Amino acid sequence: MYYQNLLLVILTFILYDNTVNIYAYRTFDVDGVETILALENETINIECKTDGPLSYCGLINPTGERCSFKGQELHLGSCFNKVNVTKQDIGEWTCHLGKSAIGVETTKKIMVRIVNRVAAIKQNVTAVHGREITLECVTTEGLRSLVYCRFEPPNRIAFNINSAVNFSNAILEKYYYPPTRSMDRGDCAVTIRNVQYEDIGSWTCGAGLDDGKEYIDVIMLKVEGLYTLSTGSKFVLIYGVTIFTVAFCLIGVVAWKHRIFSEFLPSLEEIEIADMDARQRLRATQSSPQPSPQPERNDPEVVVQSPSESSSSPVTATQ
Ligand SMILES: *[C@@H]1O[C@H](CO)[C@@H](O)[C@H](O)[C@H]1NC(C)=O
Ligand SMILES: *[C@@H]1O[C@H](CO)[C@@H](O)[C@H](O)[C@H]1NC(C)=O
Ligand SMILES: *[C@@H]1O[C@H](CO)[C@@H](O)[C@H](O)[C@H]1NC(C)=O
Ligand SMILES: *[C@@H]1O[C@H](CO)[C@@H](O)[C@H](O)[C@H]1NC(C)=O
Repeated sequence: MYYQNLLLVILTFILYDNTVNIYAYRTFDVDGVETILALENETINIECKTDGPLSYCGLINPTGERCSFKGQELHLGSCFNKVNVTKQDIGEWTCHLGKSAIGVETTKKIMVRIVNRVAAIKQNVTAVHGREITLECVTTEGLRSLVYCRFEPPNRIAFNINSAVNFSNAILEKYYYPPTRSMDRGDCAVTIRNVQYEDIGSWTCGAGLDDGKEYIDVIMLKVEGLYTLSTGSKFVLIYGVTIFTVAFCLIGVVAWKHRIFSEFLPSLEEIEIADMDARQRLRATQSSPQPSPQPERNDPEVVVQSPSESSSSPVTATQ
């Protein structure tokens, strides 16, 4: 019995400790960068971590000041700096992590933003025309449930949304609440189906909290057409154009060698007659590779030069 009570006390302590921690700043992954959303004057823990022990650990703050750490936690592979966030802490912090072995060090970036009690995770969002995009604001003092969540689109009527709105019953057949988010965990989010150019602009999210007030933040939405190609699709396009050009050239060379077009080009023949020497040399080079058709397939000059010239024109046209 005694041990059970002790266990209960410990459990209560852990739970209490966690609830204390829950009402604190939040950390998100924004495009692969750890981003801390904190209130002004809030104490945050900027932590650099790695697996394995460290020989040194340093931190550069947004104003360029450096601090380095030594002590116990380096053996555990981490170092941290507790700061009471002020305006000059906003921006990019950089960690330098040196492992015990000599070699390149690990660097890590941490973004710090001072926000209101509700904040956009990503302030600048870029969508592709005709696709879906999710805009998202969250409570910053931990996972606090929302009384309501609303959005004001640019130049259009505002709407109120919650998790009952799904893909099939979307508001105006356009806006629905992303199924992976939760009002109870403080997510004020909307997924826009089939993004149009008219959706470009500033979207205001407004979340009602239990203090009866509404807190807002603004998300800038950019929409790009399919013509602004990603690097991947540019690669595919260049590849396609290259293969097409090479195939076209090879067909041309083969056709010319077999003189398929020769009867349609009498004028060319006349020009050639004017320069007998050149024609004779041409004949000589034509007749020699005739028995073996391999050279035309293996000829690297045709493959390399013609596509790079011809493929550059469609790519510059797309930009
Ligand atoms: C943060 O602290 C500074 C200095 O102590 C104070 O002037 C400022 O009003 C505080 N800001 C907030 C939001 O509490
Ligand atoms: C941050 O503020 C708290 C009081 O809010 C204070 O006790 C603490 O020393 C401050 N920490 C730093 C690093 O300034
Ligand atoms: C968002 O875009 C604005 C203007 O284009 C820029 O000033 C701001 O720094 C950007 N914010 C982020 C978080 O990238
Ligand atoms: C969408 O919500 C409606 C009403 O809340 C529900 O009847 C329907 O089954 C839901 N559809 C999906 C795909 O979850």
